[in-house]
Amino acid sequence: MHCNVLELKGLSGLASAEEGLKWLINMGVKLPVVSNGEKGVISLCGDKIVRQPAFKVSVVDPSGAGDALCAGIIFKLSETLPRKRFEEISLEDVLELLLFGQAAGAACVEKIGTTPGVTAERVRSLIEEQGERIRRSTLIEG
Ligand SMILES: Nc1ncnc2c1ncn2[C@@H]1O[C@H](COP(=O)(O)OP(=O)(O)OP(=O)(O)O)[C@@H](O)[C@H]1O
Ligand SMILES: [Mg+2]
Repeated sequence: MHCNVLELKGLSGLASAEEGLKWLINMGVKLPVVSNGEKGVISLCGDKIVRQPAFKVSVVDPSGAGDALCAGIIFKLSETLPRKRFEEISLEDVLELLLFGQAAGAACVEKIGTTPGVTAERVRSLIEEQGERIRRSTLIEG
């Protein structure tokens, strides 16, 4: 499930995103993804809090980024799921799902409209150019 930090506060009634993530898990969410625009995403995988920074891009139009993030995560998940069950998805798998989703979100904001920027080619080039930096600077706590 995806929502942004403001939506999480509204849903959970909790000020802290970390507490909000735990609240989502208690509500039955299997993979909570909370986005925060150019600050990236946070997620909870088992007992580990994941903080992954965003790609650095020139923003032209921020609309549609949340949907693009979800589309990227779902696309990557569709590649992973034939090989393993959802319950078997590892922390490393989640980091790559988030990375791919974030590349789609970043590609989205580079162009006017919600879909023109989100191309397989741009998602691939963003991961090629910035993926290692983001992998290295992703924080895992707990
Ligand atoms: N300025 C930005 N720079 C880089 N990446 C961005 C930027 N804005 C959004 N993204 C990417 O898109 C993801 C989703 O963005 P955001 O948190 O704004 O979602 P949202 O509030 O649901 O968006 P929307 O306004 O489309 O509903 C972010 O986690 C990030 O990966
Ligand atoms: Mg949204």
